[in-house]
Amino acid sequence: MSLQGAKTAEWFDRAYAALINGVSSQFRYWGDDDTIVIDHGEAGHVIDMDGKRYIDYQLGFGPIILGHGEPSVVAAVVDAASAGPSFAMTQRREIEAAEKVREALSWAEGMRFTNTGTEATMHAIRLARGVTGRDIVIKFEGQYHGVHDYVMFSTAGAPPEGLGSRFRPVPWQSSSGIPDSIRTYIRTLPYNDLELVQKVFRNEGNRIAAVIVEPTLGNAFGFMPVDGFLEGLRDLCDESGAALIFDEVKTGFRIATGGAAEYFGVVPDIGTYAKALGNGFPVAAIATRGEMVEGWRKGGIAQAGTYSGNGVAAAAAKATVEQLLTGEPLARVEKVGRSLMEGIDRVLSDVSLEGMATGHPAMFSIYFGEGTPKEFRDTKGHDSELYEDVIFRMIGKGVMPCPDALEPWFVCAAHTDEDVAKTLEVFQESVSEARDGSTK
Ligand SMILES: Cc1ncc(COP(=O)(O)O)c(C=O)c1O
Repeated sequence: MSLQGAKTAEWFDRAYAALINGVSSQFRYWGDDDTIVIDHGEAGHVIDMDGKRYIDYQLGFGPIILGHGEPSVVAAVVDAASAGPSFAMTQRREIEAAEKVREALSWAEGMRFTNTGTEATMHAIRLARGVTGRDIVIKFEGQYHGVHDYVMFSTAGAPPEGLGSRFRPVPWQSSSGIPDSIRTYIRTLPYNDLELVQKVFRNEGNRIAAVIVEPTLGNAFGFMPVDGFLEGLRDLCDESGAALIFDEVKTGFRIATGGAAEYFGVVPDIGTYAKALGNGFPVAAIATRGEMVEGWRKGGIAQAGTYSGNGVAAAAAKATVEQLLTGEPLARVEKVGRSLMEGIDRVLSDVSLEGMATGHPAMFSIYFGEGTPKEFRDTKGHDSELYEDVIFRMIGKGVMPCPDALEPWFVCAAHTDEDVAKTLEVFQESVSEARDGSTK
């Protein structure tokens, strides 16, 4: 059974003729019969071309934190658009937005805007290399930092057998088209295993420019860091002079207003932000401190972008962060997410299915398997076929998480108690049907 109604199918045909595979980002393609075309969003819902309404837990892959079309953000953006978005000079809205971001990220001593998370991590790595004069970057398996060549290794699409032994991990190239020599600059390690990171630092600490880490494993089941992991990374970087980069593109302005740095109380040298920073409008930021600020101030480490800090993006960021700073939206997100996670665990126990909700309430996943996984290699036992079956049934019934369990369910402040109740009812039905193998 296709997820597309008649009008959505017609629009997908048009999309297919106009865009390669009908999409502008490969993660949106779910196959010719199941790729949905959206007309618009409203609060915690999206509506497709047939007028079918879904409770939305994809939320644009995470940016929507206040709700689709949140009025104060829309008003700020309309105002900024009519003032003209781009100038070849710093503009008022950009300064106002930066001040709000700095208020939220109290550890930061300087920042610049970019447009996407990919751009932010690319610049963060260049800044770390420029300041330290070193080349090697450590990243963790299952983590995603955007699509630039330096980080497209051992992301969550990697087959476990491609990662090598955990004691001598092999960087698995996540895309064709990356020059082979780039591999020599990356070390990929299992997340949450500090001993292995210590070993790499012992062997080649004086060549390591940076450790880049998603503080929670936000692109693979959302696993949380074990006690001491982030603190241990901080110590290793301090001892060796490497930069600690927190890639907070998913966690920033979501698990706390000040992101993971605030939530876990560990301060990075560089933090990268996007997604929830602009409630859906394309805006990203790099925040930093100490000698990294000086690195950019002095010049010589290139950072540029025609659209960086544009008025529309800045207005969206200012309006979003202003609301987040009240504390109310994220308190709501946490409450909704917690109810969903607890409800999901209850359902799994009721239907006697091994599994659990994993991660932080603002961005959690569901693991269908035994044990308590804490890193990407532990997820081999996850039953992805069953998970996909459950989620496609849920989408058919009007509740839309991402069908790939690696990608978290995102929660926004506009999700209602009714949304939670309906979601859990639909989850219960869908899990039971999938387990019994009933036809869709
Ligand atoms: C942790 C993380 N970093 C970077 C990126 C790349 O951001 P963008 O898609 O805005 O380029 C993503 C995207 O999902 C991400 O999850």
